[in-house]
Amino acid sequence: MSHKILITGASGGLGGGVLDNLLKLVPADRLVALGRNGARMERFAQAGVEVCIADFDDAAATEKALTGMHTVYLVPTAAPNRMEQHQRVIDTARRTGVQQFIYSGVIHHGEVGQGAIVSDHQQTEQAIIASGIPHTLVRNALYLDVLPMILGNAAGTGVFAYPVAPNGVSLASRADMAEATARIIADPALHGRPHALSSPTAITYAQVAEAYSRVIGKPVRHHDVSMDEHQQHLIAAGIPAPMIPFMVGMARALAEGVIREPGNTLADLLGRTPKTVEQALREAAPAPVGCH
Ligand SMILES: NC(=O)c1ccc[n+]([C@@H]2O[C@H](COP(=O)([O-])OP(=O)(O)OC[C@H]3O[C@@H](n4cnc5c(N)ncnc54)[C@H](OP(=O)(O)O)[C@@H]3O)[C@@H](O)[C@H]2O)c1
Repeated sequence: MSHKILITGASGGLGGGVLDNLLKLVPADRLVALGRNGARMERFAQAGVEVCIADFDDAAATEKALTGMHTVYLVPTAAPNRMEQHQRVIDTARRTGVQQFIYSGVIHHGEVGQGAIVSDHQQTEQAIIASGIPHTLVRNALYLDVLPMILGNAAGTGVFAYPVAPNGVSLASRADMAEATARIIADPALHGRPHALSSPTAITYAQVAEAYSRVIGKPVRHHDVSMDEHQQHLIAAGIPAPMIPFMVGMARALAEGVIREPGNTLADLLGRTPKTVEQALREAAPAPVGCH
């Protein structure tokens, strides 16, 4: 029996990072990289990984890609019809005899229906469970990488205006979560149970503002706004209309503590402290202007 591992989203940030790390743990000839953009998977071809171009909207291409795979790692897509795409991958995996299905969703608490940022992942998890395929659910914190976008123009105004999340939120870097996910994929002893990849403690927006103040050397404070005000700010900032419900849904899920599950799983898998908010903000901050 082949023990091939298919890594979807390999042309993207998370899946590409997972595959970069898996190459240190698993022989290249057991790995298959899937994406739509071949140019962004060139480094994997160079490393001896089979590269498969497939779009989940294409049933035949999806079937061809999954045939013969022992393990499928699914990175969620971001398309409006992603539930249909995910269901196609799950159904195809069942039909083609996949033995282990691994999915990177998001940390979540509560019931289905909190908006696409959470409910799509909850529904995908339910579809995986219903398929009967042995599976492993990886639940990611909010990407630290999106924090600069959430902070908006706080550096300019000194105010980080965002609907408060009273108990804080869980943030972790995409690169750290990709590395930890590679370890989960490579180690069958870690299969069969959920893994919440998160920071050891939740962080409040007031603490985010304090960290940002230290990074930019200028005071920034958090200011609570209602969801309606937040929506108006997004419109005023020129955020494209189709993105607004998603971003308000994200703010609401964060405010309600849905994306909050502090724990040591990520640190244990990495064998080190995950990247902190302050480290991430420092890396994202523009380089100081020098005189040479
Ligand atoms: N937890 C969080 O805070 C957070 C933040 C942002 C996103 N996310 C979720 O995590 C996912 C991965 O994040 P990322 O940063 O790696 O995103 P990304 O860099 O945009 O990568 C998305 C990957 O999905 C692939 N893909 C998209 N549509 C596809 C289709 N129809 N068929 C096959 N492959 C398809 C893309 O392939 P091509 O590039 O070849 O088109 C790409 O490899 C996102 O899609 C989103 O659902 C989570």
